[in-house]
This record gives sequence, C-alpha cells and structure tokens, in this order.
Amino acid sequence: MADNRVFIFDTTLRDGEQVPGCKLNTTEKIDLALKLEELGVDIIEAGFPISSPGDFESVNKIASIVKDVTVCGLTRAVQKDIEVAAEALKPARRPRIHTGIGSSDIHIKHKFNATREEIIERGTAAVKLARNFVDDVEFFAEDAGRADIEFLARLVEAVIAAGATVVNIPDTTGYCLPHQYGEKIAYLKNNVPNIDKAIISCHCHNDLGLATANSIAGVIEGARQIECTINGLGERAGNTSLEEVVMILKQHKDLNLHTNINTQLLNPISRLVSETMRMPVQPNKAIVGANAFSHSSGIHQDGFLKEAITYEIINPEEVGAESSKIVLTARSGRHALAYRFQKLGFQFNRNDIDVLYKEFLKIADSKKEVMEEDLQQLANKYQTATVA
Ligand code: KIV
Ligand code: ZN
Repeated sequence: MADNRVFIFDTTLRDGEQVPGCKLNTTEKIDLALKLEELGVDIIEAGFPISSPGDFESVNKIASIVKDVTVCGLTRAVQKDIEVAAEALKPARRPRIHTGIGSSDIHIKHKFNATREEIIERGTAAVKLARNFVDDVEFFAEDAGRADIEFLARLVEAVIAAGATVVNIPDTTGYCLPHQYGEKIAYLKNNVPNIDKAIISCHCHNDLGLATANSIAGVIEGARQIECTINGLGERAGNTSLEEVVMILKQHKDLNLHTNINTQLLNPISRLVSETMRMPVQPNKAIVGANAFSHSSGIHQDGFLKEAITYEIINPEEVGAESSKIVLTARSGRHALAYRFQKLGFQFNRNDIDVLYKEFLKIADSKKEVMEEDLQQLANKYQTATVA
C-alpha cells in the first residue's frame, strides 16, 4: 500500500451515535453502513458490542452485510468485552477489534486507580487476547492528548509487540493544539522502535474546535488513519468531521496524501445522517452546510460572477452540493441583481438595473433576504410602468 494513502475510519455509528438523542436502531445503522461503504470509507466502527444487545446485533448484522470494508467493534481492555466483540464480528470478511485503556496520568489515577506499569500489562493482555480472535487489532491509548509522551511511547511499543496492527492516539478531550498533537505523532514515529509494524491513527475530539486541524497535523507527521464522523457528530462537541479532512487532503495537493472517498457523495450522506439522527447541520458548516456555497455580500458576488474561483475554492459539484447561490440582501450589488433577473428570464439593460436597484434596496432593507417572488413582482411592476 502506498505510503501516501490515508485510511478513513468512520465512527459515525459508534462515537457519532453517542450524541444525546441520536440513538439509531439496527435497520438505520445497516442503511447508513451501506452508504458509508458506497462513500468509500476503509473502516466502519459499527458499535460497542458489549454495551447492549442492540449494539451487538447492529455490529453482527453490519459484519454480515458489508463486503469491502473492515468492520470494527469497540471494547474496553476487558476479557468479556473482547470475547463478545469477537462473537459479534464473526461474519465479517475483515473484522477488527478496537481495544484500549486510558493512558494519561489523570485517567490512570482517577479511572483505574492503577500504576503506569499495570496499564501496560492490561493493554498488552487485551491486545494478545484480541489477536486470538482476529488478525487486525487496533489499540486506543485513551486521553493520549494529555498523556506523558515517554510513557505513551512505551505503551505503544508494548502493544505493537503484543500484536496491535493499528495504534490509535486519541485526543479524547479535544485539548491539544495542532502543533502539540503533530509533535506527539512525530515523537512516536521517531522514538518507538517497532512503529513501522503498525499504522498510527488520529482520533480527535472537537472541544476547542480543533479536531480537524489536529487530525491534519497528525497525518502530516506520519499518521495514516483518521477517525472521523459524518457532520462531525460525536461526544460533547463532536469528532473530526469526515467531509472536512477528506476535502482538505483533496484540496491541498502539496501534502500528497490521498483517501478513497467518492467526494460527490459527501453532501447526500451528510443529509441522510442528519435526517436519520435528527441532528440538523449548522448552516455555516464547511462542505455540507446550507451556506457553504452561498454568496451574499456585494463584493463577493461581483467577484464570484466574474470568475467563480475568486471566492470558491471547491466546486460544489465535487462534493455533491447544489450549485452556488447568489443570495440577495441589502449588501448585494447591481451585478448580482442583474444576474438573478437573468436567471428568471428578464434581460434588463444598465439603465433599467439602476432604476430597479433603488427599488430593490427598499425591499432589501425591509427583509433579510429578497426572494424570487419579490424579484418577479418588481420586474412585472417595472415592465408595466415602462410600457405604459
Ligand atoms: O475519544 C476516545 O478516546 C474514544 C476511544 C474509545 C477511542 O472514543
Ligand atoms: Zn472518541
């Protein structure tokens, strides 16, 4: 596999589904899994099998239905969790067990009341046990974002020696700055002797709005898997947004990093996830928000109408969005007004537009957005007046 390929690990059905009120039933999860497969993700984290019979069933059914994608089940570093996950994943062509334990001193003390050495023992034992069931075992070092780097390196080395094929370095609390997260990945790359035997994975939360930036910093420093969700859904402020990291890698060709995602499916799957999980997408959300391709200020509209690349770095078609919109508000100029009239089939000359623009501004000042029906009325009134 080329070293510039970044694997996309989708956790919409696991971390994404942890959003309060977003619970999905098995049928909904299967439908989404099939869409994620079509999208081109490499790994689907289908759930946490021991957490409930419903989650077990979902992981089990998805494992038997999807064909080309790795199906992953989450576990704690606990024997029963791993056995149950292995059972749920039995029908999968490519099963992966994702097991792990806290790695920061805060977690080690407050969650586990353990020592660092005990954490290494429990982590390696979990990986060894999981390897008895599947060849592909991912280890997560929970709260790695706040972990001591030398200890993290020892833990990562030990779990790789125990058989981990992927090492996940989660910024569980979304605490790191991009350069700090990048440095963590670089440190592991340079100081863990057996690091070339595993793929490093980024799993970043968005508590400070840095999940996407941190994941990109991670792959720049050598990580080759990003864990993310559609629309950035997930615990608290969410996870890294799939559509954002994929488009960043596609836009920044200088990074020479690629994914397998069919980007034209990004907007359709965003809408599907939003509807199924009953979680509206914020209008200004990058790539998939309703305003991601809307232009409303006069300066931007004028530039955009002259040449789209002045204000758009992505062609909406490339991400399956509706074509760009020129929204008419009191900030719009004559160029935008003439363009919108033209779209309605009216060909007005410069003088007409000067007169119409004054009337347009009166309407625009009285409401947030001037709609198609307002333009139609304005044009009809003007034409009647000039013919008479
Ligand atoms: O945020 C996190 O640390 C997680 C792990 C369970 C991978 O979701
Ligand atoms: Zn998480």
